[in-house]
Amino acid sequence: MSLIEEIDINRLPKHVAVIMDGNGRWAKKRNLCRSQGHVEGVNTVRKITEIASEIGISYLTLYAFSTENWNRPKEEVDALMNLIVIAIERETPDLIKNNVSLSMIGDTNRMPDFARERLQKCIQDTSHCTGLKLILALSYSSRWEIVNAIKKIAINAVNNNIDINSIDESSVDAMLTTNNIPDPDLLIRTGGDVRVSNFLLWQIAYSELYFTHKFWPDFSKDDFCEAIIDFQSRERRFGKTSEQIII
Ligand code: FPP
Repeated sequence: MSLIEEIDINRLPKHVAVIMDGNGRWAKKRNLCRSQGHVEGVNTVRKITEIASEIGISYLTLYAFSTENWNRPKEEVDALMNLIVIAIERETPDLIKNNVSLSMIGDTNRMPDFARERLQKCIQDTSHCTGLKLILALSYSSRWEIVNAIKKIAINAVNNNIDINSIDESSVDAMLTTNNIPDPDLLIRTGGDVRVSNFLLWQIAYSELYFTHKFWPDFSKDDFCEAIIDFQSRERRFGKTSEQIII
């Protein structure tokens, strides 16, 4: 029996965000090159997108390439860019078939033209899909995003378009790349490290965090279901008391 049957569909996280970590160590353990780990990682992306869509998750955000990843060896960066493009090209028909729309967040102007343009084509081709929203964080870092938001708000203030006293959380939300996307309810990190690595720092203020030792290429559909089941066992109080939540 698959774990999917143990999930309470009335208490699903609306938005699941994932730090996909451990591709390199997965490859090293098998005496393979790091890029081979990323190739396997793409297979997991496919599997997790499928199961998220099947369960009825509304938003799935995957941390595919961080701002800091630009500092990796050029061969690895090039291999990752090529891999992402090949995967997106290959998967677009299935995304459409499964009613999944693609979007991306991040400083995508830094990406090579061929990669950005191919991703934009897939975003265009899947824009009519109304099921799962798959969001790729590419050349993304939270501090970059927050600095950008501050700059935009400062420009509005300098130009007298806004009153400084009116700036509130929703004004910041509106300037982030995730505007119109609900905050993640659940953040999963694979690969054994217990940190959030500059990912959606503003947005995960009240997210449930789930860490697993499994390397991303080993992370299965059942592992994803297990994370959802764990999420459903938690009491989310948002600063209130248990008694207030039960009422
Ligand atoms: C972290 O593992 C993973 C990445 C930096 C890249 C993840 C990208 C993919 C799985 C490809 C995504 C493709 C699509 C189509 C979205 P790591 O290299 O940091 O592993 P390590 O911590 O073991 O070294």
